[in-house]
Amino acid sequence: MRLTDDMKRVIAEQRLAYVATVCADGTPNLSPKGTAAAWGDDAIVFADIRSPVTVANIARNPAMEINVVDPVSRKGYRFKGKAEVLREGGAFDEMLAFYRARGSRNRIRAIVRMRIERAAPLISPAYDLGQSEAEVRACWNGYWEELRNRG
Ligand SMILES: Cc1cc2nc3c(=O)[nH]c(=O)nc-3n(C[C@H](O)[C@H](O)[C@H](O)COP(=O)(O)O)c2cc1C
Repeated sequence: MRLTDDMKRVIAEQRLAYVATVCADGTPNLSPKGTAAAWGDDAIVFADIRSPVTVANIARNPAMEINVVDPVSRKGYRFKGKAEVLREGGAFDEMLAFYRARGSRNRIRAIVRMRIERAAPLISPAYDLGQSEAEVRACWNGYWEELRNRG
């Protein structure tokens, strides 16, 4: 499975992804990662800064799903794959350099890389009513603007 240009664009613009793993008791574990980035054509990475449960879950079961959604266009993608935790080596060093260049000053304990096996678009039901993307964007830009104005 290869990331399309549009998938890469949404991930690069949003950076914030919701990452699901499987707990030992079979329940889901979902947490946000603001360091999501496409890595090459077939992987998504994020930094483990404070993600103990996600990292522990991957050690037991590498299954992962990641959602990335643009809250203005109300579109995004879901990705499924298998994750690994990188703590050293050439790829780890390259990823660390990427985050440092992007301005991250946090302590990065490890980097999680998910190789993508499946991907599907996510589209809000707002589009079911026949609205164009411009109309949906205008609606949600107005919503966020109003929130910002509330201070
Ligand atoms: C907007 C947002 C972005 C975050 N980004 C990251 C991140 O990139 N890496 C990280 O380790 N934690 C990040 N966190 C913190 C984790 O989501 C948080 O510590 C969470 O409880 C970890 O849960 P887990 O151990 O189940 O992964 C972020 C939290 C928020 C609210």
